[in-house]
Amino acid sequence: MSFSVSRQALNFAVNKQTMTTHPILASFELAGHTVKNRAVVAPMSRASATLQGVPTAAMHTYYEKFAAGGFGIIITEGLYTDTIASQAYPHQPGIVTPAQIAGWQQLAEKVKAHGSLFIAQLMHAGALSQHLTHTQAPSVVTPLGRKLRSYGGGDGPFPIPAAMTVADIRAAVEGYAQAAKNAVDAGFHGVELHGANGYLPDQFLTAYTNLRNDEYGGAVANRFRIIAESLVAIRKVVPPGFMVGLRLSEGKVNDDHYRWPEGAVTAAAILEEVTKVAPDYVHISGEGSTWERLGVYANNESLTGMAKRIVQRPVIANGGLEDLVVAGRALQEGHTDFISLGKAALANPDWPAKVAAGLPVLPFERSMAAPFPPQEV
Ligand SMILES: Cc1cc2nc3c(=O)[nH]c(=O)nc-3n(C[C@H](O)[C@H](O)[C@H](O)COP(=O)(O)O)c2cc1C
Repeated sequence: MSFSVSRQALNFAVNKQTMTTHPILASFELAGHTVKNRAVVAPMSRASATLQGVPTAAMHTYYEKFAAGGFGIIITEGLYTDTIASQAYPHQPGIVTPAQIAGWQQLAEKVKAHGSLFIAQLMHAGALSQHLTHTQAPSVVTPLGRKLRSYGGGDGPFPIPAAMTVADIRAAVEGYAQAAKNAVDAGFHGVELHGANGYLPDQFLTAYTNLRNDEYGGAVANRFRIIAESLVAIRKVVPPGFMVGLRLSEGKVNDDHYRWPEGAVTAAAILEEVTKVAPDYVHISGEGSTWERLGVYANNESLTGMAKRIVQRPVIANGGLEDLVVAGRALQEGHTDFISLGKAALANPDWPAKVAAGLPVLPFERSMAAPFPPQEV
């Protein structure tokens, strides 16, 4: 199987598949829910909530546009999960306080009215907080990279984190579980544990940020433990049929080029651990890369294909998948069940409707990712 597609082939396929026949438009049964197509809005932090972490009017409009535009699944931006140590940005929304839960409930009703599934991404920033001055992480390791000024909290280096005690880890796990329970109350169809892109669970999974020698450090099974415990804790408090997904990645917001050491061997070891906790889906983030360039191993197996084979659960692929030829191949050749779009969805909130009608799509521009002016509902 080749991962390169000629420009000629691309033009042919795009014209030929105008577009009602594209595999992206086929429905899918996901954990007891019928999803109308394979197009997912990727989680995207917008840092546009009130300072109390409550969704604003602009956020209502933002999310409802994706639903009206035909996306089968919409995953929220990362929501903070406790008021102790999880918050990443000053205007990040949370799923902790009664006002936040009520705010998401109003917003979820609007999204669900269009027939999209709505999933809350649960995010603990760990060492990568731009909001807190005292941060927690697996170990005392200064994060690579610098804060992003556009997300608030200034710029410059991240603070040096404190190493989490076992009690801190339990509090983080309980935070995820309580946040999931709150997401049920808010009317979401499910939650996605943000284990990708360099945030807390990924800091545990990554050897250079996890120098622990207790049961949370060392072997892959130990480094995965906080994810496993969080998924088990979430399952205990949510009703049957409420989806629990997991997002993973190699690249990180503060270390784009990071790849799992030993490639396929480490990937398989991590995915074996995922299998034990059986999430309803696995979402592989394309942070810092594209699906095509990401995790293609010696036997030419894609990372998402490997996730499908090992975990035996539906998979969402991500990274530059607005290219209809590549997305079509990823779906048809069994590398993935869904594709999630970040930047292309910002440029085209009605991307699935445009694909169905064979209409041209708009290019992404950086200004589209800027936070909205904060304003209450
Ligand atoms: C503005 C912006 C904010 C993002 N915030 C998040 C986030 O909160 N959680 C997350 O898992 N990924 C986040 N991402 C990463 C996207 O989900 C996605 O993985 C990335 O944009 C690559 O997909 P794309 O090529 O379709 O844009 C963000 C990306 C963008 C552009």
